[in-house]
Amino acid sequence: MAVKPGAEAAVVERQQVILPELVRAAWRKGIVTFRLPPGFDPPDDFFPELFVAQAVIRSFGQAVGASIDARADAAVAIAGRGPWDVVHVWGREAFVADRSADTAAGDAEEEVVEAIRRRIEHTSRDRGTAADTVPGDLVFDCVVDSPDRWWIGWHRGLTPMSCRPGGMHPLHDAAGKVSRAWLKLDEAIATSGVRLAAGERACEIGASPGGACQRLLEAGLRVVGIDPALVDPRVAEHPRFEQWRMRARDVKLKAFRGFDWFVADMNIDPTSTMESLGRILTAPGVRPKGVIATLKLPDWSRAAEIPGWLDRFREWGQTPVMARQLSTGGREVCIVTELRRQAPTRKPDLPRKPEAQAERGVDDAP
Ligand SMILES: C[S@@+](CC[C@H](N)C(=O)[O-])C[C@H]1O[C@@H](n2cnc3c(N)ncnc32)[C@H](O)[C@@H]1O
Repeated sequence: MAVKPGAEAAVVERQQVILPELVRAAWRKGIVTFRLPPGFDPPDDFFPELFVAQAVIRSFGQAVGASIDARADAAVAIAGRGPWDVVHVWGREAFVADRSADTAAGDAEEEVVEAIRRRIEHTSRDRGTAADTVPGDLVFDCVVDSPDRWWIGWHRGLTPMSCRPGGMHPLHDAAGKVSRAWLKLDEAIATSGVRLAAGERACEIGASPGGACQRLLEAGLRVVGIDPALVDPRVAEHPRFEQWRMRARDVKLKAFRGFDWFVADMNIDPTSTMESLGRILTAPGVRPKGVIATLKLPDWSRAAEIPGWLDRFREWGQTPVMARQLSTGGREVCIVTELRRQAPTRKPDLPRKPEAQAERGVDDAP
């Protein structure tokens, strides 16, 4: 399991809840490994439940060698020639140094991908590049732990995130954007699959300097940003943007009616963020299509509270569709929820009473 540096203990704590059969093995900054007990085959879909894991692979072991060719030979010897759908290569140091997706997939990784691809068989749906991975693909994984040592394994790409090498968002550069929050929201939308539509109304709580609002505006939404701090002019002057310069608790509850989406990104304790969201989402007349909430974790141990937060969202009529540590984010978790749909209540097919029809007249027909 690949994690942000420092999140190793948090991922182990979560693993003990959902996959207690695993036995902890090597633990390095950015990577925690476990032994699978004989005969135990973990489900393919356990990955999203780990919350703070960036990527999970089933490892066959390590490939060690003095050259790329020697390591690639060793890698294919332990993983088998396949056929495979796609090869993912990514570096542990990308997590340790908290570096970007592109850095992780730089020239060195390209060379590794080619060395492995030359040695394996490809399925008929061979993806030439990792970027083309789609759900269902069988992925040959190579994690470059250190230049001469690779972890070799596999996983089934199932979620948008597990279709990316190392679970990393392909965009990493916030240059030209108001803030990194643009990237975080972009990743949250891409990996959760929520659909924001042009013309919808969104409210962001904790909006300054405005990267997330910028992303919402680019998607064509009408946006209100709540924050006592000023928002960048590129956002503030946008015709579909309005700022309420105050703290969330100073906004009258009525004002929250009519929003399709709430985005929250306050730099406060997660308990306070949840209180703030609870005040809004339980207010009369407030029924957003969904919520995208970033909860800052003052330390990683607070990740243990995530299941409780998800329960709170359910109580508020919102169904969690994603809870994860974004690759573009810091020590925080992003929870995305959608309005719980009522189970369709099927009206009984009663024959219409002829007299009732006659009483109402034809013009009253529904
Ligand atoms: C991490 S920044 C938000 C970044 C922003 N989402 C963006 O897209 O650039 C956190 C912001 O939360 C704001 N904040 C903290 N507590 C708040 C509250 N109670 N109500 C509204 N905003 C709050 C801070 O003023 C700060 O600007």
